[in-house]
Amino acid sequence: MTKVGIFFGTDTGNTRKVAKWIHQALGDEQQVAKPLNINRVTVADLLAFDALILGTPTLGEGELPGLETQCEAPSWQEFVPMLDDADFSGKTIALFGLGDQLGYGDEFVDALGELYDRFADTGAKMIGNWPADGYHFTHSAALDGDEFVGLVIDQDNQAEQTSARIEQWISQIKPALGL
Ligand SMILES: Cc1cc2nc3c(=O)[nH]c(=O)nc-3n(C[C@H](O)[C@H](O)[C@H](O)COP(=O)(O)O)c2cc1C
Repeated sequence: MTKVGIFFGTDTGNTRKVAKWIHQALGDEQQVAKPLNINRVTVADLLAFDALILGTPTLGEGELPGLETQCEAPSWQEFVPMLDDADFSGKTIALFGLGDQLGYGDEFVDALGELYDRFADTGAKMIGNWPADGYHFTHSAALDGDEFVGLVIDQDNQAEQTSARIEQWISQIKPALGL
């Protein structure tokens, strides 16, 4: 039985909320664990799962959340150095990122791109690309051609689209997650 873990970083709680909604959208699947803040876990905790759904906001100037971006607690910035020697081959990973396309259109969801690069380097199978249609921005480090490297949520400007985006993305990735 495939086991799926959901982990997130956050500053003001939006990414935690989206992680919970993703968990709910996956339904009653016994194999899906409740979302946990990345500052409460280790690499070994992530490796206990076959598949992972990982979320991050973009803070600072296109950066991962953490003490340097004025978060009150450590977050992804403090976690990613631990990935240097990690081996996630055989694991499947889907990412989601939160950002603000109006306020930060030059660095929209950049941290999603950084998280993608970090985990792709560990040998994981990365899934869950998402079309960039319907977002308005000038630059994003999270693009792979015409698509983002994960689900993009903008609670600042397009919150009314969030639940439909989550539903569609979940139905797209469920088979690859083994659910
Ligand atoms: C100080 C600050 C810097 C931000 N920088 C960016 C950015 O560079 N790119 C972006 O897309 N969004 C940026 N945002 C928007 C956040 O990513 C967005 O509000 C997100 O929903 C916050 O998620 P959280 O509540 O989980 O921390 C920034 C927000 C703040 C407050």
